[in-house]
Amino acid sequence: MIKILAELNMNNYEKVTENIYRELISICGEKFVIYRDPEKLEPFSHDEVTDKSYHHMPEAVVRPAGAQEIAAIMKLANKYKIPVTPRGGGSGLSLGAVPVFGGIVIFLDRMNRILEIDSKNMVITVEPGVITNEINEAASGIGLFFAGYPMSLQSCFIGGNVAENAGGGKAVKYGVTGRYILGMEFVTPEGEITCLGGKIVKNVTGYDLINLMTGSEGTLGIITKIYTKLMPKPTEITDLLVLFKNAEDAINMVPLIITESKIIPAAIEFIDRLSAHTSCRYLNEDIPYEKAGAMLLIEVDGTDKQKLEDDYEKIGSLCMKNGAIEVYVADNFTTQERIWNVRRNIAEAFMVISPEQSLEDITVPVAEIPKIIPELERLSAKYNIQIPCYGHAGDGNLHVTPVKNPAQTHEEWKNILPSVLEELYIETGKLGGVISGEHGIGYKRKKYLKYSLDDTAIDLMKRIKKSFDPNNILNPGKIFDL
Ligand code: LAC
Ligand code: ZN
Repeated sequence: MIKILAELNMNNYEKVTENIYRELISICGEKFVIYRDPEKLEPFSHDEVTDKSYHHMPEAVVRPAGAQEIAAIMKLANKYKIPVTPRGGGSGLSLGAVPVFGGIVIFLDRMNRILEIDSKNMVITVEPGVITNEINEAASGIGLFFAGYPMSLQSCFIGGNVAENAGGGKAVKYGVTGRYILGMEFVTPEGEITCLGGKIVKNVTGYDLINLMTGSEGTLGIITKIYTKLMPKPTEITDLLVLFKNAEDAINMVPLIITESKIIPAAIEFIDRLSAHTSCRYLNEDIPYEKAGAMLLIEVDGTDKQKLEDDYEKIGSLCMKNGAIEVYVADNFTTQERIWNVRRNIAEAFMVISPEQSLEDITVPVAEIPKIIPELERLSAKYNIQIPCYGHAGDGNLHVTPVKNPAQTHEEWKNILPSVLEELYIETGKLGGVISGEHGIGYKRKKYLKYSLDDTAIDLMKRIKKSFDPNNILNPGKIFDL
C-alpha cells in the first residue's frame, strides 16, 4: 500500500472531482456512473487475487454503451490527468483490472452484444462484454465453437480474455486465444478509435498490432469489438482420468503422450492430490483421486468415433506402460462435465479454503516439465510450506500455488513468499521458461519481469507503451513502471 501511494505521488494524477463526475454523466448518463458510493465501488477494487494488500478503490466507475463514449472518457481523462483502468468480468489473476492509482474504472458489462455470426467465414463478431461461454452457446447452433477454453469461461468477458491472451485447458491442440483473433476495434489511450484486420485469415499489412493488443493487459487500448475465428465443433469427445502413484510419475508421462502416440489430445491437464482434494471438498464432489498422488486429465476429440476410440486406447495403454495405476474413461457429457468442473474450480477452491496463497502461472518447454516437480519439493522443504500444483501440463503451463503453512504467522509468510517466488522464477528461467503463460504480469508480477525479459526487451516495451499512451493514463502501474 505504501508503495502504491509513493508511485501515485510520482505520477501526479488528479482526483475525480465533482465537475469531472458531471462530465462523465454527460458522456454516459447518470445511471451509468458510480461515484462516492463505497459499497458500489468496492467490487471494482480487486480481481481474484486474494491478497487484500493489493486491493485499491476506484474513485469512479463508468459503464459506457460503446466506443464513442469510451473515446470521450479517454479524452477527458487525458485532459485532467486521471488514470483509467478497463475491466471485464473481474476474473483476472494478476491485478490487471485493479485501479492501483484510483481514478476511473471503465466497466464493459453493457457492451455485451453478439454483433454477427458469419457462418460462411466462420467468424463471430462480438463486443468485449460478452461472456466467453456465450460465444460457444451462440456458435454451437451452427456446429461451430470458439476453441479458447479458459477455466473462467462461465464468467470471464471475451474482452478480458483477449486483453490477457488467455490460454486455458485446450491449448495443446487448439492454441491460445490470440490464434483466433482476426481483427478488432479499439479506443487508444488518447481517445481515438481504430479498427484492425477483420474477417481475414492472412494479414501482413503493416505491423501486427492485433497481436500486440492481444495480451497487452489493457495497457495499450480498450478493445470495443472483436472478430473471432470459430472452428468446426468436434462431434466426439472422450476424457481419460489417469491416476498415478505420485506427481513425478504423472508429470514424467506428459511429454511422452504426444511424442510416443503421435496423437495430439485437446487437453493434457495435471492435477496433484491436494488440488483435487481441495476442489472436491469445495464443490462437495467426488472423483476417484484418493488412491493416487496425482492424475492427468487427457481429452481427445474429433469426428470419427472409431478413430477416437483407437486414440484413447493407445494413450491409455501408453500411460499404463509408464507407471499409471488406473485409467478411467469418461465418454458422456455428464461425467466429463463433473470432472472438468473439479478441474475448473481448483483455483477458486484454494482461494476460499487457503486464501493466504500465491497462484502462479509458470510455463516451461513441455519436455522440461518433469524438472519442475523436484524443484517444488525442494522449495517446499526449504520454506516449510505446501506447494500444490495443477494446470495445463500439456503445454508446459503449471499453476504452482505456494500456500501459507497454518503454523506460520502472516508476517512470516509475507517475508518468505518473495524468496519462494524468486527461486521458482529463476529455476523456470533456467529451463527456458517464463513467469507467466496466461495470467499476465499485471501489478502482481512486475517486479519479477526481469527473470523473463532482458533490459533491451523491457525498454522496447516501455517505449511502445509511451508511444501509445504519452500521458500514462491507461492502466498505469501494470507490467512495468515507467
Ligand atoms: C486455471 C486458472 C487458474 O487453470 O488459470 O484453473
Ligand atoms: Zn490456467
